[in-house]
Amino acid sequence: MSRVAIVTGAARGIGAATAFQFASEGAAVAVLDLDESACASVVERIRSSGGTAVAHGCDVADEAQVDAAIDKVAAELGSVDVLVNNAGVLRDNLLHKMSVSDWDIVMNVHLRGAFLCSKAAQRHMVRMRSGKIVNTSSVSALGNWGQANYAAAKAGIQGFTRTLAMELGPFGINVNAVAPGFIVTEMTDATAARVGLSSEEMQARAAEITPLRRVGQPSDIAQVVAFLASDAASFITGQTIYVDGGRRL
Ligand SMILES: NC(=O)c1ccc[n+]([C@@H]2O[C@H](COP(=O)([O-])OP(=O)(O)OC[C@H]3O[C@@H](n4cnc5c(N)ncnc54)[C@H](O)[C@@H]3O)[C@@H](O)[C@H]2O)c1
Repeated sequence: MSRVAIVTGAARGIGAATAFQFASEGAAVAVLDLDESACASVVERIRSSGGTAVAHGCDVADEAQVDAAIDKVAAELGSVDVLVNNAGVLRDNLLHKMSVSDWDIVMNVHLRGAFLCSKAAQRHMVRMRSGKIVNTSSVSALGNWGQANYAAAKAGIQGFTRTLAMELGPFGINVNAVAPGFIVTEMTDATAARVGLSSEEMQARAAEITPLRRVGQPSDIAQVVAFLASDAASFITGQTIYVDGGRRL
């Protein structure tokens, strides 16, 4: 029986690439995002290449929606083997200009979202005595100008990952995180627009300060997520793998 992977925030960007990666490895994929219709093209592409995919609209910060979506996936696809907590938002601003709602939404999507999804998924994984959870941190966890909310959330993800690894390890569940550097997605395009640069200018600047002299593509992250979710990584848990071209060395 093929594995079942749930990827949150998978309608586009890194989440979509992760969904494609799992599908290419034969997993049945549940594509979760705020708006179910936004997931259609990802699901269609997986199905048209012979894979299995379902879409569910789900706000990861809403407990009832998360529980319903994850239980539905387990019922329709048969299990929950892999959870990738990828959904994310930015609300960048300097501290003195950051609104309370900018703080709250970033905490809610990244931290509350990863908490709710992991709590719902582990119910199925503990029963099976196996599972893989991959969380999404960021190089911003080490601190980044204008991102007090996001840096705190992404650093929080690392502590959350280590703690879940301790608690769920005895049940055969591995919990790890990836910490992407600059990856070309709509998220980084929006950041470029916000600071008055074209996407290409922003990417060139990021590449210049990256030892590998390039920016990342969503597939750079998807492949590491797939590795962490694979049997090849079965003795790795509680780790955060920086996938950033050496950006923070
Ligand atoms: N792009 C980068 O350079 C970069 C770097 C480090 C970390 N990350 C992290 O990687 C993840 C994916 O980022 P991306 O660049 O693909 O971003 P993106 O903006 O392209 O995609 C994020 C997806 O998450 C979804 N989403 C937002 N809020 C949600 C919610 N409440 N419930 C469900 N889905 C929600 C969005 O609709 C979107 O489809 C995020 O956690 C982000 O913080 C990205």
